Amino acid sequence: MAGNILGEMFRVVSFGESHGRCIGVVIDGCPAGLELSEEDIQKELNLRRPGTSRITTSRMEEDKVEILSGVFNGYTTGAPICMIILNKDVRSEDYESIKYTPRPSHADYFAHVKYGGYNDYRGGGRFSGRITAGFVMAGAVAKKLLKKILEVEVTAYTLEIGGEKAENFTLDEAKRHRYENDVRAPTPEAAVKMKEKIQQAMLRGDSIGGIVECTVTGLPVGLGEPVFDALDSDLAKAMLSIPAVKGIEFGAGFKAARMFGSEHNDPFIVKDGRIDLEKNDAGGIVGGISTGAPLLFRVVFKPPSSIALKQKTIDLRTREETEIIVSGRHDPCIVPRAVPVVEAMTAIVLTDHAIRYGIIPPVIRNL
Ligand SMILES: Cc1cc2nc3c(=O)[nH]c(=O)nc-3n(C[C@H](O)[C@H](O)[C@H](O)COP(=O)(O)O)c2cc1C
Repeated sequence: MAGNILGEMFRVVSFGESHGRCIGVVIDGCPAGLELSEEDIQKELNLRRPGTSRITTSRMEEDKVEILSGVFNGYTTGAPICMIILNKDVRSEDYESIKYTPRPSHADYFAHVKYGGYNDYRGGGRFSGRITAGFVMAGAVAKKLLKKILEVEVTAYTLEIGGEKAENFTLDEAKRHRYENDVRAPTPEAAVKMKEKIQQAMLRGDSIGGIVECTVTGLPVGLGEPVFDALDSDLAKAMLSIPAVKGIEFGAGFKAARMFGSEHNDPFIVKDGRIDLEKNDAGGIVGGISTGAPLLFRVVFKPPSSIALKQKTIDLRTREETEIIVSGRHDPCIVPRAVPVVEAMTAIVLTDHAIRYGIIPPVIRNL
């Protein structure tokens, strides 16, 4: 079945399953001449890796990246870049129960029906959060391109977990603090409260949801191809392709429904002789085109479905109702590990649009 390619000019092909041999990605359309090493990719992958704290899954994966093609003498060649990580800490027997008793609100049953029972169900197969390692690999390349050519910087952090919200922080503070704490919060105070929420849920054998916020600085006016490839349309598609994402809002977002035009409109001003915006309730996109203001959006993650509590399900062999308690190793909250994934998907979409707009060239001249 098709559906594993994202982008038009910077095309990312995702492949691999949770308990298969590897997880990987192919980038078709990366400009030649970008200095690129495995360390560049590894740095980003390490931020998403499982087993790094007591509030993520205890699956221990090294997630060591191998670049198989498209890089020569330390630079991208313009040919497809294939990158993989091998799956090592695989305990497929943990997943025998879900073969016949699908987890409520996971993809097990629906994939079984769609693919006629041929789908690899082990560890959730193609529907595992593990596939997002591939997104992060491609995102690492995109982030490097954006920074080098356009000085564009993508920063995501945890805004909220289980109703506990980070407040009163600047982007600089978020950049400084987010990787100092396990939950990727922008302030140490919020981090403590959010971690408590996760631990309380874990103690009950339950899971919990939250919100990742993402800010992009340095974008010029003009990215986005209205109407169907509008910048917000493509970002929404990319975010909703991350497993467990249930929504996205830009700028004032859903609050706009309760505002007047006179409050929501972002007035034009002239600042240092340049046309600017007085505020940014649009979140950096109007008419599907970047406005030059920081891109700002929030992504909602549901509580993961695999919980150690009794839930109603069905037995596919007897087609009768039964119960399931999900064993195995799972994330009690996806949000902390999803922060680098949101950054990666954002960078992929922006790079694709920057190439389409002609502001990232096909060859980077380093001389
Ligand atoms: C980084 C990451 C880790 C995840 N870990 C888990 C997990 O441990 N247990 C679980 O049930 N779902 C987990 N998920 C979510 C499922 O993959 C997802 O809910 C499932 O594929 C169904 O898709 P949907 O929620 O988008 O509808 C994770 C998602 C991400 C992005």
